[in-house]
Amino acid sequence: MSDADIVESLGDWKRTHDCGALGEDHLGDEVVLMGWVTTRRDHGGVIFVDLRDRYGMTQVVFNPQHDAESHRKAEYLRNEFVIAIRGVVESRPEGMVNPRLPTGKIEVNCDSLRLLNGSRPVPFHMDDDVDLREETRLKYRYLDLRRPAMQAKLRLRHRCYQKTRQTLDELGFLEVETPFLIRSTPEGARDYLVPSRVNPGMFYALPQSPQTYKQLLMIAGTDRYFQIVKCFRDEDLRADRQPEFTQIDIEMSFIQEDDIMEVAERVTRTLFEEIRGLSLPDPFPRMTHAEAMARFGTDKPDLRFDLELKDAGAAARASEYRIFQSALDDGGQVKGINLKGHSELGRGQIDQLIAYTQEAGAKGLSWIKHLEGGLESSIVKFFPDRSRQLLIEAMSSAPGDLLLLVADKPPQVARVLDALRLELASRFDLIDADAYRAVWITEFPLLEWDPEEDRCAAMHHPFTSPLEADLPLLDDDPLQARARAYDLVINGNEIAGGSIRIFQRSVQAQMFRLLALSEQEVESKFGFLLDALEFGAPPHGGIAFGFDRLVAMLAGESSIREVIAFPKTNRAIGLMESAPGVVDDEQLRDLGIRIRS
Ligand code: AMO
Repeated sequence: MSDADIVESLGDWKRTHDCGALGEDHLGDEVVLMGWVTTRRDHGGVIFVDLRDRYGMTQVVFNPQHDAESHRKAEYLRNEFVIAIRGVVESRPEGMVNPRLPTGKIEVNCDSLRLLNGSRPVPFHMDDDVDLREETRLKYRYLDLRRPAMQAKLRLRHRCYQKTRQTLDELGFLEVETPFLIRSTPEGARDYLVPSRVNPGMFYALPQSPQTYKQLLMIAGTDRYFQIVKCFRDEDLRADRQPEFTQIDIEMSFIQEDDIMEVAERVTRTLFEEIRGLSLPDPFPRMTHAEAMARFGTDKPDLRFDLELKDAGAAARASEYRIFQSALDDGGQVKGINLKGHSELGRGQIDQLIAYTQEAGAKGLSWIKHLEGGLESSIVKFFPDRSRQLLIEAMSSAPGDLLLLVADKPPQVARVLDALRLELASRFDLIDADAYRAVWITEFPLLEWDPEEDRCAAMHHPFTSPLEADLPLLDDDPLQARARAYDLVINGNEIAGGSIRIFQRSVQAQMFRLLALSEQEVESKFGFLLDALEFGAPPHGGIAFGFDRLVAMLAGESSIREVIAFPKTNRAIGLMESAPGVVDDEQLRDLGIRIRS
């Protein structure tokens, strides 16, 4: 049968119900359903079709005794054919009820079938539990999205948009759109550039975030702004990073940190309540950046399990262990994790942990078992009694524990123990998968050293205000200055980040100087902002949520690609539509662009 034979028009048919709507209340009703054929089964002359749409699935029966014509046509049906049927709702016979399906008690006895469209054999079946390669799913995303599990994620995301808008509207926020074709806003990634045809040789940047615009909106007196907005960043991609992603972007005037946090918590709590039926604590706990680094080795600690980092510096100092001593002499640290109750670990397992930390950049990993008879390991001979006692105290160790220690410079110690902590938690199954632990990380450093550029870079962005108490440090020791910046972290994921902004021109100009931007650069890139700051800029601040990350978390997914309708691969490629692609010579000529081979 060719397409021409298959395709019939809808004619005067109107859909009366969707495929998830019918139940025993409708027995005897004549209905018209439309949708896709999920399966077709031929049971000795009678054909059964599971008809599917976004809302559900309904069993349709084609019985030649009832209507020979539709039964004949039903023989041609294949998976994913698009059909319309008219028929009568009937009870399923004894023993045929499907309790897993909301429509499982009924079926529709078809008395007329229209074949609306055919389908090539599909690369995968629409059953939910199929284990598919992501590449195939992305290439045929329109089929992937037909699967009920994906439809559920689209619905969940939709509800998140609506709840977010409703919540912020109730709090008096105005939704304002900001431009996509802009002058670059620095958020630390590379820009996606767009050539301007009417201004040859000139480029727009796609916004890495609407940062400057939302600040200008505060200067414009908007007071409370939000936007659910696409942002574009050309950076290395991972499961939680896409080149284009969505933010819930928020800015407020005449506020302090607490005000922003309250609003952000309100949005987060509402979504967790509405979508997951979970109530998060009110307020969320807070921790300074310094504390997070000391206790967890990261600015996004996963608080669902303990395994805190302990400082064994004093014990190491009192020991005669050369490796530890020389690390301390070099300005380093000796820190470790107490893996409670795991002193029984065998050599093989410990070696795996050592290999793991080495991959994470450790020079080595020392281990000590705390047994009933005392400490045991190849290095305890270097630990006189006093240092053993100090170690036991520092590590809160008790018989049965396994102590894992790293000696290095503070950043390396933090990086390695952070990685080890996560690895131990997953290896020993210490994470409660149903728990959600939110925490604010505050008082980030204002600046960080960028060795590649050989200059300071803003840790959040250049518009972030220093902590008032640290203002004098800007002249003397700027890298020690802390910022009025905060991140919202849930289960080890950075869900949102923001700051109180600089609103005085002189401070903003000083900040640009600290970042070693030339007067010209500042003038050409940020002159408009500096100008605006001179026209009565109110104190202001804000935050932006990674909306995809939040939705992924609410959906129980570990990759944001699962909750984005048309995501890119880790190489920033749209597999389905083959984006990016080459363009015509003529287009390039129009833009005044030549491609260098
Ligand atoms: P920031 O750069 O921290 O702040 O971004 C805010 C949040 O956006 C999410 N995010 C991403 N999600 C997916 N893919 C990406 N490539 C990606 N990059 C960031 C994270 C992050 O916490 N203008 C400031 C906000 C402010 O200061 O108000 C900003 O964009 O969840």
